[in-house]
Amino acid sequence: MGTSDLPSCAPMATLLFGFCLVSLLPEFAAGITRHYTFNIMYQNVTRLCHTRSIISVNGRFPGPRLVAREGDRVVVKVVNHVSNNVTIHWHGVRQLTSGWADGPAYVTQCPIQTGQSYTYNFTITGQRGTLLWHAHISWLRSTLYGPIIIFPKRNESYPFRKPHKEIPILFGEWFNVDPETIINQALQTGAGPNVSDAYTINGFPGPLYNCSSQGEKPVNLIVRDIYKLKVKPGKTYLLRLINAALNDELFFSIANHTLTVVEADAVYVKPFNTDKLLITPGQTTNVLLKTKPYFPNATFLMEARPYFTGRGTFDNSTTAGILRYKRSSNLSSSEKLPLFKPTLPAINATNFVANFTRKFRSLASAKYPANVPLKVDKKFFFAVGLGTNPCPKNTTCQGPTNTTKFAASVNNVSFALPSIAILQSYFFGQNNGVYTADFPINPPIPFNYTGTPPNNTNVSNGTRTVVLPFNTSVELVLQDTSILGAESHPLHLHGYNFFVVGLGFGNYDPNNDPKKFNLVDPMERNTAGVPAGGWIAIRFFADNPGVWLMHCHLDVHTSWGLRMAWIVLDGPQPNQKLPPPPSDLPQC
Ligand code: C2O
Repeated sequence: MGTSDLPSCAPMATLLFGFCLVSLLPEFAAGITRHYTFNIMYQNVTRLCHTRSIISVNGRFPGPRLVAREGDRVVVKVVNHVSNNVTIHWHGVRQLTSGWADGPAYVTQCPIQTGQSYTYNFTITGQRGTLLWHAHISWLRSTLYGPIIIFPKRNESYPFRKPHKEIPILFGEWFNVDPETIINQALQTGAGPNVSDAYTINGFPGPLYNCSSQGEKPVNLIVRDIYKLKVKPGKTYLLRLINAALNDELFFSIANHTLTVVEADAVYVKPFNTDKLLITPGQTTNVLLKTKPYFPNATFLMEARPYFTGRGTFDNSTTAGILRYKRSSNLSSSEKLPLFKPTLPAINATNFVANFTRKFRSLASAKYPANVPLKVDKKFFFAVGLGTNPCPKNTTCQGPTNTTKFAASVNNVSFALPSIAILQSYFFGQNNGVYTADFPINPPIPFNYTGTPPNNTNVSNGTRTVVLPFNTSVELVLQDTSILGAESHPLHLHGYNFFVVGLGFGNYDPNNDPKKFNLVDPMERNTAGVPAGGWIAIRFFADNPGVWLMHCHLDVHTSWGLRMAWIVLDGPQPNQKLPPPPSDLPQC
């Protein structure tokens, strides 16, 4: 485990707790190139008294930070030393004309096989804040994830006061058994997959768990399994929150402290205060934490637990970390301090979620304009939700009934991954038998999406895409369905940010709802929750040629088929075309 993953950023303490100055080299407006090596390797990790050989990057869990400034080129050599196929996705990075580096398996690349490597090469353009990288194949994201930290250009500053320190806070999910086994079995039987055993903060489940499931003693749990954030009084800390959990949207709060949200998905927002927040898988958000002016004579818990409205089972546990104030040295530290706990919204607090979501606004300033498409070339209406596939003949399944398997779809299409990458077959004009260009722009059979579901809940299966001419201005309404339970779906679009111009409950009304759209300062994100029993309307310019996956960031729903792909054609200018693939692009 070297430090090659963190150029000019060596000491372990900064790796764990702070950020460091990124480079001593002179930097010009054009940016510099930063080289990383990600060795995909096994690593023994013990949590909840269970030791597993997990798949890691460079032996680290969570994985190492990728640090860059806006405008920098990032070159990451990923070397696969494990027996699984692997890809890495740079979640939220726009990948302008660098679609070959996006990472979703069988969409933009074939996976990196055992003993092989692939070098991802991309430039970070027009983004600053926090994103994340993660594996994009099966459920390997459960242990293969880490922060992407994008600082402003060298001569630029934040549109808020410079924080004293910056700290990534990654939420994850811990499984006592191999998640690959869980999802493979679930897809076989048609059942809902087993849920995680714990949530984690920076890899640690925290003090609210024990090892009781195995009857073992929580040996050294206090020392080993808790994330501690040590702060000084009277300072401002920037917390870079990242939800890398597989299947759960999370509420988060720190006892007796208010947070100021300043950025979301690497886009600055109009600052607002909140003492609780929601973060979906795939979302990232920067918040300012102002510490108490004096040593508070108390310790504070920070907690995260799920938001869930569906019908199935879910991990209903709570992860906690500790916010501890440093005392001035002349005070004794043996005194036991009271410990305060935050209050989190109810598990199914959909109203809190909607109100919270509506607080996000783009800065929409001269310096950081909100480039919202005001006129629309193409409108799409996608119904998203669960469904079923029939159980194969002469077998019994464990889906919603014993003759069905769980599935999920967009406009009733459950998206099947092909056996070679869509981008390759598109680029070389060999789409025959790989994908079709006939993805339905409306639900094939309209129904009362949020009312009583139809009797037939079977989905169709296929690899169907939408083809868009370069720079099409797109409006897309994403409508949740109540099939097998209304549920919030955090939809993520690769290759783009989009503006969430509208949000509502019930069925979208194409006559009246557009009148209420916010085209002035809507939030700009790469992942947005489609409300349980509701809809969102998003807009974007299709200005990035390539093949771009869009999917629910709850991995269970993605695995069931809640995904589809957009193909955006080249534009007329040389810098609007997708270049040929790099020579080391993996083959299937
Ligand atoms: Cu963060 Cu397609 O994923």
